[in-house]
Amino acid sequence: MAWKAIGIFDSGVGGLTVLKEVVRVLPQEDTIYLGDTARVPYGTKSPETVVRYSRQIARYLLGRDIKLLVVACNTASAVALSALQQEFDIPIVGVIEPGARAAVEATSSGKVGVIGTAGTIASSAYTKAIKRINPEIEVVSRACPLFVPLAEEGWVDNEVTRLTARIYLEELKLQGVDTLVLGCTHYPILKQVIAEAMGDGVTLVDSAEQTALTVARILGEQELLRPSVEKGNHHYFVTDIPAGFIRVGNRFLGGELGDVYQVNLEQELQDGGDGEETY
Ligand code: DGL
Repeated sequence: MAWKAIGIFDSGVGGLTVLKEVVRVLPQEDTIYLGDTARVPYGTKSPETVVRYSRQIARYLLGRDIKLLVVACNTASAVALSALQQEFDIPIVGVIEPGARAAVEATSSGKVGVIGTAGTIASSAYTKAIKRINPEIEVVSRACPLFVPLAEEGWVDNEVTRLTARIYLEELKLQGVDTLVLGCTHYPILKQVIAEAMGDGVTLVDSAEQTALTVARILGEQELLRPSVEKGNHHYFVTDIPAGFIRVGNRFLGGELGDVYQVNLEQELQDGGDGEETY
């Protein structure tokens, strides 16, 4: 029996933090990753634009016959998940709901902080998801856009990053949150600096870990899990030349990135052609 792959997409390289968790939890599964590097960042764009991009990518990945789609990008999950779920009939998992659930479980003070891109924070998607689970929880949120380039630059242990974290997180710290949701693909890379800035006693929730567990649960329920004796293959696609993705991606995945192919989404969707180049 040919087992289908799990599709995963992000605006760029950040979603590899989600892929890494999916592979850790489900090493037997094949994955197809698409990073929309030609159009990154999504975090500063309007919801309409992010929905349009996300639908194109979902159509492209469904064309590759995937069994489940993970929207690894927090911004796309925040604004496009329901549109995708309405349009396509395979399971589609975003990162917001799993992260929100983990935050609700982790908090004991009932005060949760959420950090993410401008788009994610403006959508209030995490706040709504947390309050759907427990309306009593108080949510304090803050956009931290500079964390994305800092993570891509590899400045994980650096004075500029520490200072940026202190400034961004000061208010959340003062408000006394005991749990902080890392609501952006890149933030797990900066976990240590963020933890330092928040101080002891604050639990950091990584949406990537929770999302991987959700994927495993759904595939299990639908009897779509590949037998665990197999070892999965991983394919990577990007929409711009792959050099930057390969450099940063290898850092995110600890040098484990395989071949990366460039695709032209518009062309692929128009004529189903194979405009792919390997790097
Ligand atoms: N992947 C995005 C997210 O998780 C961060 C990068 C971007 O703005 O596109 O929200």
